Amino acid sequence: MEKRIIAVGCDHGGLEHKEAIKAHLIQRGFEVKDFGVHENTPVDYPAVAAPLAKAVAARECALGILVCGTGIGMSLAANKVGGVRAAACSEHFSAKYTRLHNDANILCLGGRVIGVGTALELCDLFVDTPFEGGRHQRRVDMITALERE
Ligand code: RB5
Repeated sequence: MEKRIIAVGCDHGGLEHKEAIKAHLIQRGFEVKDFGVHENTPVDYPAVAAPLAKAVAARECALGILVCGTGIGMSLAANKVGGVRAAACSEHFSAKYTRLHNDANILCLGGRVIGVGTALELCDLFVDTPFEGGRHQRRVDMITALERE
């Protein structure tokens, strides 16, 4: 089976989580593309979200995971890129169902909201859960159509 590349990125509010997620995914056998950052110096989260979101939209990476303080800023920025469906999640049900029903391709996490252990579990759910398709494809297509308005 083709190796799925997972993109990871963070701002200074999510560095510890991003490093743990990267190590965890590599240990699980995924190829990981790291869009930074690599130190705690304050950085503007859209500057990290944009290149990662473009790589996911271009299918260079199968899925992406972005971490900032809340997960919200990263999701707002990533969702400006056509073809991206970024979901900010802080619990298991949403992380699973945003794959099943929304075909979300980027998971956004809050490094100041959830602990590293929960973050790893949400990442596992996100990367392991397939899109259900069916009636949900029509709804996802309606979201995509909004990009052309
Ligand atoms: C940075 O202080 C913080 O605003 C950022 O990490 C994120 O939470 C924005 O949504």
